Amino acid sequence: MDRITTIEQYQAEYEKSIANPESFWAGKAEQFFWRKKWDRVLEWNFSAPSVKWFSGGRLNITENCLDRHLQGKAENPAIIWEPNTPEEPGRILSYKQLYEEVCRFANVLKKNGAKKGDRVCIYMPMVPELAIAVLACARIGAIHNVVFAGFSAQSLSGRIQDSDCTIVLCSDGAYRGAKVIPIKEVVDEALETCPSVQRVIVFQRTNSSIKMLDGRDVYWAEELKKADASCEAVEMDAEDMLFILYTSGSTGKPKGVVHTCGGYMVYTKYTFENVFQYNPGDVFFCTADIGWITGHSYIVYGPLLAGATTLMFEGVPTWPDAGRFWKIIDKYKVNIFYTAPTALRALQASGLDFVKPYKLNSLRVLGTVGEPINVEAWNWYDQNIGKGKCPIVDTWWQTETAGIMISPLAGITKTKPGYATLPLPGIQPILVDNEGKEISGNGVEGNLCIRFPWPGMIRTTYGDHERCRQNYFATYKNLYFTGDGCKRDEDGYYRITGRVDDVINVSGHRIGTAEVENAINQHPDIVESAVVGYPHDIKGQGLYAYVISSNQQHDLDLLRKEIAAIVNKAIGPIARPDKIQIVPGLPKTRSGKIMRRILRKIAEGDFSNFGDISTLLDPTIVETIKGDRVS
Ligand code: WT7
Repeated sequence: MDRITTIEQYQAEYEKSIANPESFWAGKAEQFFWRKKWDRVLEWNFSAPSVKWFSGGRLNITENCLDRHLQGKAENPAIIWEPNTPEEPGRILSYKQLYEEVCRFANVLKKNGAKKGDRVCIYMPMVPELAIAVLACARIGAIHNVVFAGFSAQSLSGRIQDSDCTIVLCSDGAYRGAKVIPIKEVVDEALETCPSVQRVIVFQRTNSSIKMLDGRDVYWAEELKKADASCEAVEMDAEDMLFILYTSGSTGKPKGVVHTCGGYMVYTKYTFENVFQYNPGDVFFCTADIGWITGHSYIVYGPLLAGATTLMFEGVPTWPDAGRFWKIIDKYKVNIFYTAPTALRALQASGLDFVKPYKLNSLRVLGTVGEPINVEAWNWYDQNIGKGKCPIVDTWWQTETAGIMISPLAGITKTKPGYATLPLPGIQPILVDNEGKEISGNGVEGNLCIRFPWPGMIRTTYGDHERCRQNYFATYKNLYFTGDGCKRDEDGYYRITGRVDDVINVSGHRIGTAEVENAINQHPDIVESAVVGYPHDIKGQGLYAYVISSNQQHDLDLLRKEIAAIVNKAIGPIARPDKIQIVPGLPKTRSGKIMRRILRKIAEGDFSNFGDISTLLDPTIVETIKGDRVS
């Protein structure tokens, strides 16, 4: 373990990491098991972009997550699994058991044709087999592409096609609160348009009746029976791909963010141990789904690399009631709890009666991630969950960064509600104006960029390197652009103010406006649409859609339902607009660009200052849209 313990030590470590990043990160990397040590710590340029950490190094990340812990920690719990229904018995897998399960399933993958470099799509609920599948892929060098099991068949298909997956791992169905959700059925529909897929391996969770396609589909349990319990890990290069994870951007289809083996390993363990101030024996509960980067880095890899006990929860925070998280915390004596502001706001709205029955006295550290946390939610969390005794780490990072970038170190960095506070060692944030000029000093605000590589950073977007360059490295020369706006206050503390691009953060999930608009435009009567975000009490931001319909006769309630259904089908329920306004036109400049700034203001209900609208093609449209605003 390698942990900072005082603020002075943080400062010293930070300075060292900036003065000599290579020796700093080499020092972290040396703590892992490498089959062969690297030749060079770092080679980089942000214009290509090309970033290589620990090149020439050979390793398998699962040897560091599993094999290494068999000495001394074999009987320690690696995964605690809490099912959807509180009455169903949970499962606890020791490091030894997890190791064996991973090896066994790795052999299943091999037998079903998976080899190093192949892409494997995983579309599963939060059961231990999901974590096992992820690690089994890594064991044999197959590249996992986990798709959140709430995405629609069309989204799933797009992600499978874009990365040419040959195998899909799924379940029959999923339990989510009181509902049973179809999974295999969604996969079947998706695969109608995915010729690359040769094999589907189905884990039976709900025992729902499903169709099995002869020659393509096999049962997980059947395959396991035939598999051997030992599986040699495949040796990987530090820069070989570990996984692809799709995320939304401001334009076009979701992009496959690529992370590689060595840097990802070094970065997730370091950030896990330091930000949360992990102590051996701690039980760590991150409420994310493994379908998002938070689950990859802080349910699976970070905690397991550290030899920690990670808690996986299958269900939802409000079922059977809004006390579920707190019940789980007491049941397993959770020490570190990591969740999203949107969940806190929803639980706060349910009232304290759901918190009172629980002791919560095992808790030592609380964390949040995914969106800016409002001061009320922060205080509620601090007082009612942390009882004023647990430091809160507001962790800012992204799918592209692999791990936490700006965050307090629990109990070490003085916190301020709403502030992600200070950069972690090795992270060099910079604020720039719209022209890319550095905004220095304190008490300032600008576009948040990072000026030097860190081991966990994005390497490429799968199959389209140019898109990676365009998206992250072309806006400002020689800088990685995050897409976020940010303040640096008088103390040098960072506060993320939200996206400055056309990405909307709904309940901590990134939704690209273009994606939702493309979905809506599939409706035969919709001529054009524009989607913007607006402040939402629980979700942080909600989606407000302005649509132009060619059919004057249309029943408007029906049209709204049809639009919701179309978005559901194209993306999934998380992207369904909260409000839909049918408009006769959109505010456009003479060059045809939609003035989203105006649409955002109307959606917010702020009619105070639209700025200059004289450049609009038809300035009168603003009054019309204002008049029909959906409140
Ligand atoms: C975007 C990244 C990182 C895992 C979950 C989301 C927003 C994230 C914070 C925070 C304010 C935050 C940013 C960022 N965000 N954490 N602590 N405070 N905003 O990952 O889907 O890649 O989204 O989430 O806008 O760019 P993601």
